[in-house]
Amino acid sequence: MMIVHIVGARPNFMKAAPVIRALGQYEHITQTLIHTGQHYDQRMSDVFFHELELPPPDYNLDVGSGSHTTQTAQVMLRLEELLEQQPCDLMLVYGDVNSTLAAALVAVKRGIRLGHVEAGLRSFDRTMPEEINRILTDQMADLLFTPSEDGDANLLREGIAAEQTHRVGNVMIDTLTRLLPAIQQRWQMPLHTPWHHQRYVLATLHRPSNVDDPASLRSLLEALADISQLTPIIFPIHPRTHQRIQALGLTELPATLHLSEPLGYLDFLALQQHAALVITDSGGIQEETTFLQVPCLTVRANTERPITVTLGTNTLVGHDRTRLRDEAATILREGPQRGRIPPLWDGKASERIAQVLAGNG
Ligand code: UD1
Repeated sequence: MMIVHIVGARPNFMKAAPVIRALGQYEHITQTLIHTGQHYDQRMSDVFFHELELPPPDYNLDVGSGSHTTQTAQVMLRLEELLEQQPCDLMLVYGDVNSTLAAALVAVKRGIRLGHVEAGLRSFDRTMPEEINRILTDQMADLLFTPSEDGDANLLREGIAAEQTHRVGNVMIDTLTRLLPAIQQRWQMPLHTPWHHQRYVLATLHRPSNVDDPASLRSLLEALADISQLTPIIFPIHPRTHQRIQALGLTELPATLHLSEPLGYLDFLALQQHAALVITDSGGIQEETTFLQVPCLTVRANTERPITVTLGTNTLVGHDRTRLRDEAATILREGPQRGRIPPLWDGKASERIAQVLAGNG
């Protein structure tokens, strides 16, 4: 059986790596890895392949950046052309980025069976491009691998047959547990930050809803500047955010708010594990902090990962900057409140996926 994996953007790589490794145990399964090229910078892509020990992609579609429509259309056109030559019994797509939806559309239109890893997550906010990508990909998938119970419930409510859904747990946590020794080693090395081994806050922001509107970005940076007076902040910047900050022409940020290039995964995880607090608008970081038991403030009004709030260490602070400042000050003063690690976030999710797929051969 030939399984084709599609990856495109940074958050896909750590989800595909453990599934590819687990499927490698089955002799009757052969695998092909296709990178759409949605993310192409060395620091957004290559470094992850290296650190995750992912095999180099068999094909790169080199679609690059563009409007969502352009990006989605380019992946579809180039992937369809490639699949004219490339045998494929089952396609696996990951998460909720534009490449995920585009590849899923190509699979169904060509009659290829489709599996979606990280199915069922919902923010119930259709203004997020990722929410549309999730809903449509799940509607098209034959096999849906969910990380948590809320995912199963969302799929049932949307009319997807229970037999198609497999609750396997969280593949990103598979990668995280495998990398823990390497993260510990990395922590012993210089991490290119001025506050290494001191108390610090780690921040990441890249959602269009936070960074594309100049007033929103400015007020967020002001809040971070204030929080950094309590504890210095390390802020690795996504290319999108970097462009927006440059456009704002902001030069007067305090030295305690340290802007850095995007980091490799091991550096970033090491900094996450030892942070006093993480402030983010990412999806995956809400999960990683829950697993690492590090307090997380999510600068969004909603989350598609509610279990990180109900069980884990995550708090949604919405777009209220006063709330962000107050919650950060409380955590920095009183220390973390411990959360629980959700069921099946045990490092074995990809093995469970491989078992389902091997049985379906
Ligand atoms: C994408 C995903 C988002 C995910 C994020 C993680 C979608 C809709 N969004 O958002 O869910 O959380 O990846 O990083 O798929 N750019 C570069 N170099 C790169 C990639 C992007 O400079 O390697 C710049 C380009 O100017 C580009 C912009 O970043 O236009 C946005 O990139 P894009 O892939 O469209 O979306 P992300 O914001 O990265």
